[in-house]
Amino acid sequence: AEQQLTGTLALSVFTAVLGSLEFGYNIGVINAPQKIIEGDYNATWMYRYGEPIPTGTLTSLWSLSVAIFSIGGMVSSFCVGFVSEWLGRRKAMLINNLFAFIGGSLMGMSKLCRSFEMMILGRFIIGAYCGLASGLTPMYVGEIAPTSLRGALGTLHQLAIVTGILFAQVLGLESLLGSEHLWPVLLGLTVVPTVLQMALLPFCPESPRFLYIVRCQEHHAKSGLRRLTGRQEVGDMLAEMKEEKRRMDMERKVSIPELFRSSLYRQPIIIAILLQLSQQLSGVNAIFYYSTSIFMKAGVQSPVYATIGAGVVNCAFTVVSLFLVERTGRRTLHMLGLGGMCICAVIMTVALALLDSVPWMSYISMLSIFGFVAFFEVGPGPIPWFFVAELFSQGPRPAAMAVAGFSNWTANFIIGMCFQYVADLCGPYVFLIFAALLLFFLIFTFFRVPETRGKTFDQIAANFHQHSAGGMMDMDMSIGMGMDIDKPSTEMDYL
Ligand code: GLC
Repeated sequence: AEQQLTGTLALSVFTAVLGSLEFGYNIGVINAPQKIIEGDYNATWMYRYGEPIPTGTLTSLWSLSVAIFSIGGMVSSFCVGFVSEWLGRRKAMLINNLFAFIGGSLMGMSKLCRSFEMMILGRFIIGAYCGLASGLTPMYVGEIAPTSLRGALGTLHQLAIVTGILFAQVLGLESLLGSEHLWPVLLGLTVVPTVLQMALLPFCPESPRFLYIVRCQEHHAKSGLRRLTGRQEVGDMLAEMKEEKRRMDMERKVSIPELFRSSLYRQPIIIAILLQLSQQLSGVNAIFYYSTSIFMKAGVQSPVYATIGAGVVNCAFTVVSLFLVERTGRRTLHMLGLGGMCICAVIMTVALALLDSVPWMSYISMLSIFGFVAFFEVGPGPIPWFFVAELFSQGPRPAAMAVAGFSNWTANFIIGMCFQYVADLCGPYVFLIFAALLLFFLIFTFFRVPETRGKTFDQIAANFHQHSAGGMMDMDMSIGMGMDIDKPSTEMDYL
């Protein structure tokens, strides 16, 4: 009975991932209407200065409009730990919606006010919303999910992101909202999930783990647990949290520097950061930000529809991962995804290099891009997001989410800023860089990343604790870490 998906649990997860939907929407929304919005920047310039905007200025303004989103995300994701402890998970999500409102309104009104400054500021603020959402959502979902559903429910964060991207791609078609007059509506639409989330959040319980372990409110935690599980008797779950609390009370409060200083947390935080980097440095956003020009270079006839095709593949394979993650485990799926992406990147390179002499290579390159995206969603897309919440117990979790989120957003920013320059420099060979990085992350995962499926937070943390204390790890973990279980391990084995 413990593992049942109750109405309250489903509602709470659905409400939380509305934030992820909005995150995805804002990743995807800027791609299709680029030329039209640039036209408006030019019109504003003409209106103000009586002359067309210089090309260099336009490129800079556009790059800034795109990239400032990730800067907003970097700044706010760093605050996830503090905000979620101060306000609680639920109230933090509720208040975060203010950012979405302000950001969405600024972008939606920027054409009317003839101000690209408003658009740029709006992108920064919506980025800040997304940065917080990218930490708060997996944290809340991970904390309210029963152990056996934690991976599947955690994957819903990514499923909502990819659905958001797809919505944005489709609505961004010129025949729908991506037109000269309607693009402000396209960008302003981001407030819709916000309103829905604000309306539903009051019906969702606060995370019982947070209430009990951090706030010491046993009574409230109990009633939250009863609602989430649909059971009257929740003593066993409370006992598990009690154990976690007992351990936490013995530790000092975990700050961000402490994560790196303490031998208890150093291993999991390095794993968390590298997993986030494996997600972003896989190169997936090179596809999502620049798909139109990539498909054009690959000789594809209608790049806009190919982009939507990639969005559909993206969604479909996230669903595949959703069904596999509790059966196959996180580690295997992550490795399968990284390996598959690496192979697709190599095939894509060969296809692009041969394109001039063999015309049908354009199909191969398109298929390899689809394959690249599909393998991404099998593992590297969904898993890093919820894995961080799994690797840490209640005490260090908020700080760890902040560090992991910040790493993710920083890498996202770097890819967004640099890809085009590097692509110009390397021509068809650019994806070989990603292939090499993918291989590195594959090897890292094989040797260092443990399996967390079916384990409670306390068991996962205990494994790291034992290890850092020089004890023996359990079999599963040792194999995951590529370690010899007969040998008493020391910290040096790890790092
Ligand atoms: C992940 C990444 C995001 C990417 C998306 C693509 O959520 O964090 O940056 O755009 O997947 O599906």
